[in-house]
Amino acid sequence: MIITYLGHSCVHIKTANHQIIIDPFISGNPLMKDFDLNSIEADYIFLTHAHQDHILDAEFLAKKNNAIIVSSYEVCNHYSAKGLETQYLNVGAQFAFDFGKVRGVAAIHSSSFSDGSYGGLAQGFVFTIEDKKIYHSGDTALTYEMKILPKLFKSIDLALLPLGNVYTMDYKEAARAAKWCKASKTLGLHYDTFPPLEIDKTKAVNYFNSKGKELILLNPTESLEL
Ligand code: NI
Ligand code: MN
Repeated sequence: MIITYLGHSCVHIKTANHQIIIDPFISGNPLMKDFDLNSIEADYIFLTHAHQDHILDAEFLAKKNNAIIVSSYEVCNHYSAKGLETQYLNVGAQFAFDFGKVRGVAAIHSSSFSDGSYGGLAQGFVFTIEDKKIYHSGDTALTYEMKILPKLFKSIDLALLPLGNVYTMDYKEAARAAKWCKASKTLGLHYDTFPPLEIDKTKAVNYFNSKGKELILLNPTESLEL
């Protein structure tokens, strides 16, 4: 399958027969200003929490693609009130979709909509697709909850982890997170989008290497194959 980084925490997954997008924040991302939102195809839109930098383009993409929004009870209700199709998936729940299985997993982070209303619990997702396990942590601090993942899933083929500090863990703690969840590879998220989130990419990659872990940093719109 093809994993495409669309900036910030947004990742697009193209499987043999399905397309999934996680945390679409594109039209508000200065690093994605020349990107055409209309080019995105998705059957499902997964939202880790209600912060604007994770949901900004969800409504547009759901309408354009007739996509199903998958998220917490509160985030789903926000979108079903707008007439969009949703699927509840709270922390700890598992659901079998036509493309594979997904489990909601713990994240340590807040969650509110841009008007300040309650956005449910922030969470991450573990996708099992074509025998591969992909963990998108959402925004999170380093947490011992990550140590449960190898017990539940044996291995994580690709972890998608925030690195940018300020709102989430930094790259050093992300390297520890990659160890705790036993990720074979990590794709960095949630850095460089805005000046407070800028990181030294060489240092981050070298730091992961020094801990025996692999960190991949893609430019927005670049892909990797899993
Ligand atoms: Ni957030
Ligand atoms: Mn965020």
